[in-house]
Amino acid sequence: MSRVPVSPRLDPRFIERWSPVSFSPAAVDPRDLEAVLEAARWAPSSNNDQPWHLVVADRPETVERARAVLVAGNRRWADRAPVLILVFARRLTRRNGTPNRWAAFDTGAAWMSMALQARSLGLITHAMGGFSAEQALALAGLSAESHEALCVVALGHPGDGSELPEDLLVRQQPNGRLELSEIVQRLGED
Ligand SMILES: Cc1cc2nc3c(=O)[nH]c(=O)nc-3n(C[C@H](O)[C@H](O)[C@H](O)COP(=O)(O)O)c2cc1C
Repeated sequence: MSRVPVSPRLDPRFIERWSPVSFSPAAVDPRDLEAVLEAARWAPSSNNDQPWHLVVADRPETVERARAVLVAGNRRWADRAPVLILVFARRLTRRNGTPNRWAAFDTGAAWMSMALQARSLGLITHAMGGFSAEQALALAGLSAESHEALCVVALGHPGDGSELPEDLLVRQQPNGRLELSEIVQRLGED
């Protein structure tokens, strides 16, 4: 897969964001954390419903509890992250309580906003789908009827990779992407 941008007009911030597995244990400045969370706040959503619900663990005792929802393979590297953000989507609209079929789509936009805001502050993020949704809901005091547990985001400062075992070290690099032609279909062309 290619790591080379096709368009010379692409904003470099899209390439500069990636998902490292090396975190420095250094604490995140609360003002930076606030900015990251606020980036989610300004994400667009269907009917401006803002279905995202973010549960933040940013103190050693709460991070410890949040880590427990992760699968073992993620804990190997994510245990060093000083902040974990559990990302949920409200299943029903705030407006009239009907099912919101855009909730996950909109919450995905909020995650990307957080990732880019973090990057612009020199921080790193790594989203994880490898966690127990049941445990995450229980930890947050939410029900599966009202909320969908979508992912857990590790947030922190970049590490230098020196703590990583060989098999994780090979993952400490940006991933490539499919070609544009593989993900874009132009109407009217075969
Ligand atoms: C919803 C979601 C779930 C993911 N789950 C995991 C995970 O459980 N463990 C992991 O190491 N990476 C996980 N990732 C990271 C992806 O593997 C990564 O974003 C993808 O390979 C692209 O690489 P990049 O983010 O470095 O560009 C997840 C990413 C997303 C958006």
